[in-house]
Amino acid sequence: MELFDAVDVIRTKRDRGELSNEQIDWVIDAYTRGAVGEEQMSALAMAIFLNGMNRREIARWTGAMIASGDRMDFSRLGKPTADKHSTGGVGDKITLPLAPLVASYGVAVPQLSGRGLGHTGGTLDKMEAIPGWRAALSNEEVMSQLADVGAVICAAGSGLAPADKKLYALRDTTATVECVPLIASSIMSKKIAEGTDSLVLDVKVGSGAFMKTIDQARELARTMVDLGTDAGVKTVALLTDMDTPLGLTAGNAVEVRESVEVLAGGGPKDVVDLTVALAREMLQSAGVDADPAEALADGRAMDSWNAMIRAQGGDPDAPLPTPRETETLVAPADGYITRMDALAVGVAAWRLGAGRARKEDPVQLAAGIELHATRGDKVRAGDPLLTLHTDTPERFERAKEVLKGAIDVGAEAPPSTNVVFERIAP
Ligand code: URA
Repeated sequence: MELFDAVDVIRTKRDRGELSNEQIDWVIDAYTRGAVGEEQMSALAMAIFLNGMNRREIARWTGAMIASGDRMDFSRLGKPTADKHSTGGVGDKITLPLAPLVASYGVAVPQLSGRGLGHTGGTLDKMEAIPGWRAALSNEEVMSQLADVGAVICAAGSGLAPADKKLYALRDTTATVECVPLIASSIMSKKIAEGTDSLVLDVKVGSGAFMKTIDQARELARTMVDLGTDAGVKTVALLTDMDTPLGLTAGNAVEVRESVEVLAGGGPKDVVDLTVALAREMLQSAGVDADPAEALADGRAMDSWNAMIRAQGGDPDAPLPTPRETETLVAPADGYITRMDALAVGVAAWRLGAGRARKEDPVQLAAGIELHATRGDKVRAGDPLLTLHTDTPERFERAKEVLKGAIDVGAEAPPSTNVVFERIAP
């Protein structure tokens, strides 16, 4: 005999009521067990999408999703743990240089990551461009790598917040993804279950992000910071720019190459600035007083990267996959690039084969886009702007279609902006 009737729970939220703690615990548990049907959960998700949840409801919903699965425990490592989560963007390869950089200061960084779906790339897909590298690690392997090397980037096991796994797949097919209470509880249930001491959230704002306006991003960041803090995780959020792709690459192998440039002390300014800003937050939360820019300059972060790749079977010195075909697009006029639309570049990279349409699709490791110039740069008519990479040249046309109108060249340089807009702390 079930404690509640799903129809009553849906009706409560449909009529703008508050769900009780008992209703929330029951509905998440019953959905995970299959006693609440997909059609009932989709109606409830849409009612939440339309009518929202208050802080108590969101915290309880998150707790119920955590309770649906396992919790990891890093306390026996004997060193602080710090994690970063990004809400997803185009060219967002920051996890790659960030994890080894922070680990080079003696902080353990467990980056349990996912694959790309839609126009935002997935960290695991990028890392798999490195020959031999392995994403699937057992819990014991994660623990021993954290103890020895300090940094791990690997696939999140299926035991963490299984209720979220099921619900996220449902939201994807019912137009209920872009909803602050549901996004915040989805992300934070996984991060709290993972058991990190501290967490830095990179909340993206702009055309290539879920959150198109700063107000939406602020609300999401505040909700997640409150959830983490209430659960005993030291949590801060940075609101960062996603109107323009991050750095000069979007795709898989091309993003690994750029990350290695950053680890070698070079790389595009926005990627370096964001990596250092996030590393600073992670070190501060872990009680380490240091300037992370130093470990990029003196090679310590690169040593830590090489050790991390080798520990997972990869060869950091092996050549990365190269595309079978490339096509270069040129600047239409003299002037300054005033807009390089992140969403269009992300969708184009995806159409070239860097991403997948269904979760079981393979990705092309060599597919992606290399930018020769970005917002703020001066160009002359005919200069190379973008090089498209793919193994399947029939994809060029559809990629070029989405790039039409995505880049503006004007007479005046656009105002320069910082990649970090705002910091949200408890
Ligand atoms: N990422 C998640 O893990 N969940 C969401 O709901 C959105 C982005």
